[in-house]
Amino acid sequence: MQPDKLFSPFTINQFTLKNRIGVAPMTRMSSKADSVPRADVLEFLIRRARKGAAIVYTEAIVTDYESAQGYPGQARLLTQRQIDAWRPVVSAIQKEGAVAVMQMFHCGRMAWPEVNPAGRVIAPSPITPEQDNPLTGQAYPVPDEMSRFDIEHVIEGFVETARGAVEAGFDGIEIHGAHGYLICNFLSSYSNQRTDGYGGSVENRFRFAHEVIQAVRKVVPEDRLLTFRISNWGVADPHVSLFETRDEYQHIIKLLDREPIDAISVSTHGYSDKAFGTRQNMAQITRAVTQLPLMICGKIYDRASADEALEDANIILSAKSILLNPDWVEDVKAGKELRLHASAEANVAYTDEPLL
Ligand SMILES: Cc1cc2nc3c(=O)[nH]c(=O)nc-3n(C[C@H](O)[C@H](O)[C@H](O)COP(=O)(O)O)c2cc1C
Repeated sequence: MQPDKLFSPFTINQFTLKNRIGVAPMTRMSSKADSVPRADVLEFLIRRARKGAAIVYTEAIVTDYESAQGYPGQARLLTQRQIDAWRPVVSAIQKEGAVAVMQMFHCGRMAWPEVNPAGRVIAPSPITPEQDNPLTGQAYPVPDEMSRFDIEHVIEGFVETARGAVEAGFDGIEIHGAHGYLICNFLSSYSNQRTDGYGGSVENRFRFAHEVIQAVRKVVPEDRLLTFRISNWGVADPHVSLFETRDEYQHIIKLLDREPIDAISVSTHGYSDKAFGTRQNMAQITRAVTQLPLMICGKIYDRASADEALEDANIILSAKSILLNPDWVEDVKAGKELRLHASAEANVAYTDEPLL
């Protein structure tokens, strides 16, 4: 009999994950003015660890008080009070035998002024997504083109947030470079039309990500994880391919491979979807140019899809299935018949209703 890869351990940096299943980062928009998530939202993460997930990502934590926030009710990890709120959650996740990772983001051109205390919207170039903001029903505001000062200031926000996470005891930090938010805005020519050292060639578009990673790694001890999330799609204009060709995407991955990171997390609309007009999926295209540990996410909902997704990656992450079903890991292990959930079903994530 073949060994059960999905439920076999995997070592990454100094951590041995007990299986290959993780909770994907999920924003819940439950924080009040103090930028601390609701108690039941924090307990949800602990419960997913107790129910068998080997690695648990937080929601996307906002990196500053000026321009980083993209949605109402997001959380921060910049003040002692915020750090103190997360510390017991992190240690409870660890006591359940799981690894706790904080994901952080700056939303870039996806912001709208009202959700940011300083009211700014900034991005590499003054270009908006084509679609309207579904939460406001209005066009996204034209962002200010980031100055050198803005770039350094924003990097400081990533560094300070990483320090907050280290202080709160997190095992790892994830830099969110996916989904059409700030780092992704720099990586993609769809949103980056700069003519200075941060735009134009792939190397130049990668420069901002490089500077963020380098600055953050300095405050994240060697024995804690630093992961980077990437996607070829954004939440606005979701059908646009953010990288024009497989070569361009693989060039970015090769640049990431040289960085001091412990894993790459690839987010897709569907793990098995073929990408860039090729016969390969995103995990295969990524794996072809890096030996870094690879996480894959997107429409993994039952035993068969989990096993298949794991053929080209080391860890699978689930969002909707694990959000809606507290017993998902056990159900997958038992090979139970499970169904794919529609996006609208995940809207319970944003209600005041505590989830099981
Ligand atoms: C409620 C909800 C919130 C999400 N928030 C985030 C987030 O904060 N950061 C992120 O990288 N992805 C976020 N995502 C995307 C998921 O991590 C995942 O990539 C996507 O849902 C596809 O996985 P699935 O098919 O298992 O749901 C969110 C998804 C959902 C459903």
